Amino acid sequence: MNIAPYLLEKYNVPVPRYTSYPPANHFDEQVTGGEMPELIRSSNNWAPDHIGFYIHIPFCRKICFYCGCNACTLKSTGEVTQYTEALKQEIRLVAKALNRSRKVTQIHFGGGTPNSIPAEMLEEIVRLIRLEFSVSEAAEIAIETNPAYLDEAYLETLLGVGFNRFSFGIQDFDPQVLRNVNREPSKLPVEQLIAMVKKENDQAAVNLDFIYGLPGQDKTTFVRTMEQAIALQPDRLVTFSYAHVPWLKKHQQILEKKGLPGPAEKTAMFLSGYDALVSAGYKPIGLDHFVKPQDDLFQALENKQLHRNFQGYCTRKTTGQVYAFGITAISQLEKAYIQNTKSIDTYVEQLSQGNLPVEKGIRVSAEQVVIREVITRLMCNRELDWNLVSGELQVDLPELKGILNDDPKQLAEMEADGLLHRTEHGLTVTETGSLFIRNIAALFDPAYRQQVNKYSKSL
Ligand SMILES: C[S@@+](CC[C@H](N)C(=O)[O-])C[C@H]1O[C@@H](n2cnc3c(N)ncnc32)[C@H](O)[C@@H]1O
Ligand code: SF4
Repeated sequence: MNIAPYLLEKYNVPVPRYTSYPPANHFDEQVTGGEMPELIRSSNNWAPDHIGFYIHIPFCRKICFYCGCNACTLKSTGEVTQYTEALKQEIRLVAKALNRSRKVTQIHFGGGTPNSIPAEMLEEIVRLIRLEFSVSEAAEIAIETNPAYLDEAYLETLLGVGFNRFSFGIQDFDPQVLRNVNREPSKLPVEQLIAMVKKENDQAAVNLDFIYGLPGQDKTTFVRTMEQAIALQPDRLVTFSYAHVPWLKKHQQILEKKGLPGPAEKTAMFLSGYDALVSAGYKPIGLDHFVKPQDDLFQALENKQLHRNFQGYCTRKTTGQVYAFGITAISQLEKAYIQNTKSIDTYVEQLSQGNLPVEKGIRVSAEQVVIREVITRLMCNRELDWNLVSGELQVDLPELKGILNDDPKQLAEMEADGLLHRTEHGLTVTETGSLFIRNIAALFDPAYRQQVNKYSKSL
């Protein structure tokens, strides 16, 4: 794909990632653990009735210098045991308020590195969830893993308890790039890991994660890594743009000394990786996901049913509200986001006293529901039809337009720049515009206009 340099200069500016709306930096202490059971009870009536779970395992054997996740080094097995016991307690407490007739269709273990703790502990958590809730037969049970610590026995335990989607964090195949960022390569050849998963369950899926923008990477090395990835034929592949936020993650400063690629090199990596994946038959989903044409996510994109939550892209058909467990985890309910404490000590202590360990959150106002719907539609399905939004949210057109208060001048400018086409009832995003989808979404976000410089750049 060719992008005119002036477009990159103009639109590669800090914008929110819109994994939630309002974004997480708007959460405050107004939502408390005491209110959580009531929020869960009222969420039992919201559609769709099927639900997702997110379980956060914060531990890692060591910290990668680029890491922007909520992760900490694993200190002792005692700490892990205490943490997983607290997790189980949290699951039991939520089970008291959640209507058991609702089907759990997605369970996602994220981190940190969930596979830094014994597989048997993960197995126990899945068993407890099955005991306390109604897990759908077809539920997706997914885990983010660091392949440096994966072997056959570990994978077998996970497959045995029903895990059926595995993300392997490759980041880069180049050993020098991995050394630069304090990371070990996969313990076993990735090809072997994929073969093990597929042999045990031919319906199980494999995602590979990569990052571009790290010291030691350039367009040539990144394309080489993408070619190696394509040869492995994962079901899905993600190329994350390295988010450099050293004011939040101090360890990222180390990478500045090692030499981060400049914006032009980073964009060249993204575009050449994009071309390699698309010419190999992968379909782009959003900015950074690539899937095989038969994948549910591509089918959902074609049917305008693609959806998104903190765990990434999903389909409206399979994912309703998400209840989250573990430190820093964010529950994503129709009318509220609720985030747990960031401290393991506070988490364990609160749960030992029978309290839900909430730190902050936000109640989503009726206006914010409207803005969220518009941003999600744009981010996922690359189009906006005012009549559809108005019908679905039952808000009449003038009110809808009043809430969004979009700037016709800026829309016209983006149209002139080839990012979108305005249609009779809304707009559609072009292929070029899909690279700047966060910028287009930000046009409809009144909160963004006041906080322009607090985000990472679009590409
Ligand atoms: C929470 S990590 C879990 C995976 C596992 N711990 C690992 O490292 O393989 C999920 C993904 O986030 C991505 N990631 C982490 N820090 C990032 C950053 N600063 N910018 C962009 N992507 C990042 C990595 O690609 C990683 O695979
Ligand atoms: S990238 Fe993964 S393994 Fe590395 S520190 Fe972050 S969460 Fe841990």
